[in-house]
Formats: sequence, structure tokens, C-alpha cells
Amino acid sequence: MTPIKRILLPLVTSATLAAQTSILHIDLAAPVAKVSPNLHGLMTEEINYSYDGGLYGELIRNRNFCDDEKKPVHWTLIESAAADGIMALTDKRPLTDKLPISLELQLNTSPDKPVSIANEGYWGIPVRPKTTYKASFYVKGNLAETATDKPAVAAYVGGPLKISLQTADGSKILAQATTGPITGSWQKMEVALTTSDDITPSAANKFVISANGVGTLWFSLISLFPPTYNDRPNGNRVDLSEKLAALSPKFLRFPGGNYLEGNTLWERFAWKETRGPLPFRSGHHSCWGYRSTDGMGLLEFMLWCEDLKMEPVLGVFAGYSLQQQPVEAGPLLDHYVQEALEEIEYLTGDASTSYWAGLRAKDGHPEPFKLRYVEIGNEDYFDLSHSYEGRFAQFFDAIRARYPGLLIIGSHGVKTRQPDVIDEHFYRSAEDFYKDLAHYDKHDRKGPKIFVGEWATSEGDPTPNFNAALGDAAWMIAMERNSDLIIMHAYAPLLVNVNPGGMQWKTNLIGYDALTSYGSPSYYAQVMFSNNIGDEILKTKLEAAPEVFLAVSATRKTVNNKIYLKVVNPRDTPRDLTVAFDGANGILPNGTITTLHADEPTDTNSITEPEKIIPHTAPLKHLSTRFPHTFPAYSITVMEISGK
Ligand code: AHR
Repeated sequence: MTPIKRILLPLVTSATLAAQTSILHIDLAAPVAKVSPNLHGLMTEEINYSYDGGLYGELIRNRNFCDDEKKPVHWTLIESAAADGIMALTDKRPLTDKLPISLELQLNTSPDKPVSIANEGYWGIPVRPKTTYKASFYVKGNLAETATDKPAVAAYVGGPLKISLQTADGSKILAQATTGPITGSWQKMEVALTTSDDITPSAANKFVISANGVGTLWFSLISLFPPTYNDRPNGNRVDLSEKLAALSPKFLRFPGGNYLEGNTLWERFAWKETRGPLPFRSGHHSCWGYRSTDGMGLLEFMLWCEDLKMEPVLGVFAGYSLQQQPVEAGPLLDHYVQEALEEIEYLTGDASTSYWAGLRAKDGHPEPFKLRYVEIGNEDYFDLSHSYEGRFAQFFDAIRARYPGLLIIGSHGVKTRQPDVIDEHFYRSAEDFYKDLAHYDKHDRKGPKIFVGEWATSEGDPTPNFNAALGDAAWMIAMERNSDLIIMHAYAPLLVNVNPGGMQWKTNLIGYDALTSYGSPSYYAQVMFSNNIGDEILKTKLEAAPEVFLAVSATRKTVNNKIYLKVVNPRDTPRDLTVAFDGANGILPNGTITTLHADEPTDTNSITEPEKIIPHTAPLKHLSTRFPHTFPAYSITVMEISGK
């Protein structure tokens, strides 16, 4: 990447002159603690169309016709002068008991005038040149009905169906294919739609199924997938997966968040409903105001972990839903404890001996997954009945007895049991983070470890502005300095669909529409921090006038003696410092510097300006154990320097 030279030049003001004697000491003689190997990770849930209409590759919206009870929302009927059709939902032709609603299309067309049904996708259907899309759906036609109490109805007579990707106005067909013949039984149709190399990438498109004939057709589970990350069937969107991979995340906390809990017990993440073939996943209404297909189910979360080499941090439903619905500890809670034990068994058990692990093998993953962390519930301090103490104890005892090797995370502190780790959440302003950078410095090291399972500087909409990135970077510095105690942390929420109506939560790390995506300045701060970290924490000390406010942390990789110095200057004044490495054999003359900087704290990235603020890396030369450096106003800096 090109260095931004101008930001490396000191801007001489009276304030910088006053601060010229400032010294930043880094003590190389005695590391103070070990850095957690799992420090940076991801937290996700179905919010802001994170999975459906986001990471999960499915392009058809309302594929199972459950999004609305009355109408086939996101679907339209396309008729013409010589082609009549009626489109409606029906529960008379269920595909399975889990997908009870199908789309009925009554048609009466002349041979060359089709009736079509079209899906608009999640704010459009992204279509790119030279790309193959996999379409599939279940369809059947009506047989002749001869029941005495009804007039005779002729069987469906019609040709195969034409499947196409078309521009939204229907003026251009971008790819098309034809199915085999239709029968009177449910049949799965699968076709490939390949675009030519001369089309322009666009999301202003629709997916169309066209039929010629007379009679009735029923459709269920209509699906369209683009190429996915690692070519996984039912897999994830490539650009978003690549952005997540660039964060080098060590773990994934899932499935929530509030999404785990649901507004009511019926809306919780009931893992058993999210596994198995898609015709047996009904989806569920989620607490963020829309229905989830559950295409991103328990197994898909684990495959995502495998793809990005992340450790799963599994949140298990702990008998509390958001509308103040706690299940009392005792016999009634046993059902949910059992559900959690079975979930762990499904993931980690031996497929040849365990029923639940056998199901996992049937679902396509015979090998047990590695699982070390289980979190019981989410933010249970919101339970006004204060029932977590009892609920936690019941879950803890059962899980510890059956799986003694698992580390158990509490969603907050309890008295009667000792969680191995406590999950703490922080949504704050940048200024509030600055005031509290010492939050963990004096924290008790003898108790449970800390997992900062959700945090963010909540400034910026839909994604953080640069001021938020400064707050985030400073807070990450505070966590890195304490990463003997804070074993993991994750920003939240991670993903947001930036289309109108896509966002339920204001500040999110990565934004996207159907076609493109972008990282916020905070995203780039995380990329810089998670990819430049050692395994031991070095002591730092800033000798400077009181008005010099900088957040600083240094770590070192023992294997190659690389030192990573991180400095955040959140103020409007550049800071001239002497960087002093104490107690060293010396340092090598060459290093690198990566800087993230904005002219104004309100500057940001967006879907139209995705790379306005990105990190710039440049060589550092002529280094010695004491060297001068100016940290620009509004900047986040990472230096990589080699010790001798
Ligand atoms: O990150 C958004 C929400 O914030 C999470 O679902 C919840 O755990 C927290 O309150």
C-alpha cells in the first residue's frame, strides 16, 4: 500500500512545541504478562440481516413463503395479454410438516405466452458476469381431480419451466435454463444459470420462474445460490467471508446475543430446529423483527468456524427470553439443560456411539468438532426476576459433570458457582472509553477470566465514523494491555445490510448491500490490531505533559523478537514523542509503520466511498533505541520493530 507522506510530517504548533520533551518508554527487559492467544474474535447473531440478506449465500427472499401469513411477500406475478395467472399461498400442499405453506400458481396461457413468478431478493439480486448460480426448488402440478363433491378439474398440462435471471424491468435476460417435465408429485428441480462475460455487475435484477400451460402448480423452497466461500453448498457470501478472514479471528461467539434468547421462549434459537436438510427447517421469527430461515443453522456456524479457523464459543439457551420470561430453576428447567447437553453432544460426540453425534454424521460431519467454550445465556442481568443464579447453577453442574474439560462462561457474575470466564459487554461513546482505559488494569487476577463478548463505540450509523474507530482502537489497547485477564474480545454487531429497513442496531463493523461491501474505519483498526500482535505484554510509560493524551500498548513475539507498538492519538493535535526502548540489546534500523488517519473525526467509509479511510503502510528507517516520531492528529498507529 502507498504511504501517506503528509501524515508523517510534524505540524508545528505551540502545543506540539510544549510536548516535544514527551517520551514514550517501552521496557524490553521484563515482559509483564502473556498475551491471550485467542484475543481477537467475532461475535455474530441474526440482526441487521446479518445472515439472511447478508453472510448466508441465499439470494431468494421468502424462499419458504413463511415471511407473511397472508401474502407471498417479495414475490410478484407477471402475466400478459394471453397468459392469466393467480398466485396465492396455500397450506393444502405442504412440502413437509416443517414447510407447510406452498405457493400456488393457477395458470391458463397460450403456448408462447408464459406466466411467471419473480423474486426481488434481499434488496435486489446481485448478478455478475461469467458466474454460475445454482437454482433449486420443489414443484408439482395438479392431477385430475374426480371427487364427486367437486367439479372435475383437469390435470396440469404444460411444458417444463423456464428459469431465468432478468434485469428488474424484465428488459434483459441475463441467464436462463429449462427444467425437466413436471409431475403430480413433489420433485426437486435443480438448474445452473450461467451469465456471459459482457454483463455489468448489478443488483437491479430479479429471479424468474416462467410456465406455459393450463392447470395448477405448487412451489416450495425456492433457492438461488451464487458461488460461495470455499464452495460450500448452502454456504456463505464470498466478499463478506474474505473481509472476516482478513480480521484473522481466533473465535466465533454464536448464535447471540439476543437472537439466542428470542423475545419469547418460542422464539429462542432452538438448535434442533436449525439442523438437517432445508425442507425440514421451518425458520423462526427472531427478536430483531424479521423471520430467520435458519439456513444458517448450528452446523453451518461450525463449518464457518472451520473455514476461518476460528474456535467456536457456543452460547446455549439458558431458560430466559427477553420479554421477561425466565424458566424457574428446578424440574421445569431440566428440559433446557437437557437441550444444551444434547447440543454439545451433537457437536462433540462420537458418531458411532451417540445418537446426537450420529445425527451430526448424517448431516455431513462425521468428525467431532473441537469445542472448548460454552456460554450459558446472554446478558442475564436483564432478567428482572434475578433467576440467573439458580439457572446458571443448574446448567453449570450438568455441563461440568458431563463435560469436565469445557470452560464455562457466565453471562454475568454469580455467587454459588465459579464460572471459568465472565462475559462483559460495553457499548459506549469514545469519550467514555477514554475515561475508562484503566478499567481492567487493577482487576482481580485470581478470579474468573474475562471475555469482552460484545463491545463497540456506538458512534456512526450504520457503521462507525472515525471518531468511533479512535474510541475502538483505544479500548482495544486497554484490552490488549490486560490480555492476561481478557482472554477474548469481540466487537458487536459485526454486520449490517445498509439498505433502508436493513438495520436494527446503529453502529456495526461491516456494511453491505446485495452487491458490494465495505469495512468501516473501526474494521480497519481491528485488521491492524489483530494482525500485529505478540505473545507477551511489554510495560509502557508515557512521560508527557498532562494535556498529552495517547493510548499506548506494546507486545513482543518471542519467536522472532518482533515488537508491536500501538499508539492512538484521538485529539486534534499531532504529538511529537521520543520513542525509547529501555533495557534492550538494541533494535534493528528497519521497521514498518501502518497508520489509519482521517482529517475529521466525522469522516467515514460507506457503500459509495468504501475506502475513504484505509490503513497505509510505510517503511521505518534509521531506527535506534531512541528515535523521534510524530503521531498525527486523529490517528491510529502500529509500528513493527525488530529487537536485536
Ligand atoms: O449487539 C446487539 C445486542 O446488544 C445483542 O444482541 C445483545 O446481547 C446486546 O444487548
